This record gives sequence, structure tokens and C-alpha cells, in this order.
Amino acid sequence: MRVVITGHNGQLGRQLQAAFADHQLLPLDLPGDDITQPAICTRVADFKPDLVLHAAAFTNVDGCEQDPEQAFRANAVGTQNIALGAQAAGAALLYISTNEVFDGSAREAYREWDRPSPISVYARSKAAGEQIVRDLLSRFYIVRVAWLFGPSGNNFVTKILSAAQKNGALRVAADEFGNPTYAPDVAAAVRRLVESGHFGIYHLTNRGFCSRCDFARAILQQAGYGDVPITPILSADWPRPSRPPLHSVLANTAGAAMGLTLRPWEQAVAEYVALLRSEGK
Ligand SMILES: NC(=O)c1ccc[n+]([C@@H]2O[C@H](COP(=O)([O-])OP(=O)(O)OC[C@H]3O[C@@H](n4cnc5c(N)ncnc54)[C@H](OP(=O)(O)O)[C@@H]3O)[C@@H](O)[C@H]2O)c1
Repeated sequence: MRVVITGHNGQLGRQLQAAFADHQLLPLDLPGDDITQPAICTRVADFKPDLVLHAAAFTNVDGCEQDPEQAFRANAVGTQNIALGAQAAGAALLYISTNEVFDGSAREAYREWDRPSPISVYARSKAAGEQIVRDLLSRFYIVRVAWLFGPSGNNFVTKILSAAQKNGALRVAADEFGNPTYAPDVAAAVRRLVESGHFGIYHLTNRGFCSRCDFARAILQQAGYGDVPITPILSADWPRPSRPPLHSVLANTAGAAMGLTLRPWEQAVAEYVALLRSEGK
């Protein structure tokens, strides 16, 4: 297959590249290939892809809140450009989206067909990307992931470890819930999904969910810092430009129905922390 990967230098993009390494790839990323520029449509179409994996995004949630123009340019206009390129080539497109398209007010996990209700600029721009993909293409996958961590990423796991090393004590939100998700596991699941040819909307996260506080505890435990004290706080007590959805937990219903499930998040955290430790981090 001929496969375009956008955002290939990112945390997930690198893993997608590894998972599809036996295919003919066109990896796209900044600075050379900016998805906000209309020329990217031709760049995608000219490659004559069978599949476009669209992982590029302006992912700094607080940065999006401070610069809505850039957020919508990258996540909505950029997605439109990539979708038009896929359309011109007759390629299927897989759009990586986020748990944050839901407002987090539900007490139950969100299913694939629940209506998005984004509350931050980042989430609104990603939801706009979903809408564009649905409007422009019939052969699409929307894959929502959450709380991503993985090799070469600057993520919650690496932040908790460096804060523990630096401060020796942590304050972490106990009222924000989600599904910690390992980028290599998502990439492997994406590969299986596209091999199935079952288009649609999917929630591909590691199994289970937890609070940020419990996530931090699991990370410290695995890293041998189990005695570092954690004070549970409310997310409102951690001032930041954007407001996170408090209970944006995803349920994997569509993938599970075809046998596509990811391992429990605790196992993935253990593997990742062991990898970081083996690298001396
Ligand atoms: N991280 C999470 O916790 C999380 C959770 C849910 C969903 N997601 C979604 O998962 C996907 C992958 O996330 P990630 O953590 O791998 O993000 P990431 O590490 O920030 O990777 C995104 C990549 O896209 C690139 N990019 C940004 N703007 C671009 C533009 N205008 N043109 C071309 N490339 C551009 C970035 O380049 P620069 O680094 O140079 O900006 C980066 O290489 C995203 O769609 C994100 O919305 C992430």
C-alpha cells in the first residue's frame, strides 16, 4: 500500500511510521510540509496514496486556548487540506481525534456515536476536523485516543517523573478522569483496523481508566519512586488557560465488537517506564 503519514515526527506519528514500515510511505511534518498550506493537497494527491493517516495537529491544549486562529488553522483547515488531498487521490483517510471532543460531564464512558460537545478551543478545533472528514469523505476512520504517552514524547509520564526527581512531592488532580493510552499500542491497533476495511468511528485507548492522580501513582510506583508523596487536588486548583473535561472517559464499543481491544493501561505504563529507565531517564 502507498500510505501518507502526517505529523510523522510526533509521538504517535513515529509509532505509525514503525507500524507501517513495510509499506511505501510519504511522511509529512513541519517545517517542510505544513498542512495549513493549500499546496499540501497536491503533495498528498500526487503521491497517489491508498491510505492517509492524519495524526498532525496543534496539540498544545493551552497553546490552542491562547491562539485560537492557529488552532483552527492547523486542526480544521489543515484537516480539510489533507482530506481534499485524500479525496483527489481516492484514498481512505484515518483521522486521529481526541477524547476531549466530549465535555466530560457524563458519568458514564462516552461511546463512539455520542454527540461531541467540546469545551476548549483545542477540542472545538479537533471536533471541526472530525466534521470536515465526515462531510468530505465516505471512506474514513475517525480514531479517538486519549492521554497519549510513548517513546520520544513529552507526555504526562515524563512530566511526572521529572517533577518527582526535581521536587520530591507532587500535587495532582484527583477529579479528572481519562484513559492513559500507549502510542505503540494505538499504532498496532490502527494497523489492524485499516486491514479490516471497516470504516467508521472508533475509540482506541488502553483498557480501563483512572484519575490523573492514580495515573501519577502508577507511574511513580513503576519507577521505584513509590514513596514520593502525592497530594490530590482539584483540577480547578491548577490554574491554566484551558479547562479540561473532567470525565472524558472513552468506551471502546465498535473496535471491541470486531475483536480490536488494547491491553490494560497499567501494563502499558509498566512497559514504558521500564523503557525509560533502561535509557537512564
Ligand atoms: N497527546 C495526547 O495526549 C493526545 C490525546 C488525544 C488525541 N491526541 C491526538 O493524537 C494525534 C497525535 O498526537 P501526538 O501526541 O503524537 O502529538 P505531537 O507529538 O504534538 O505530534 C503532532 C505532530 O504534528 C506536527 N504538526 C503540527 N502542526 C502542523 C502543521 N501545521 N503541519 C504539519 N505538521 C504539523 C507537529 O510538529 P511540531 O512538533 O513541529 O509542532 C508534530 O510533529 C493528534 O491528532 C492529537 O490531536 C493526542
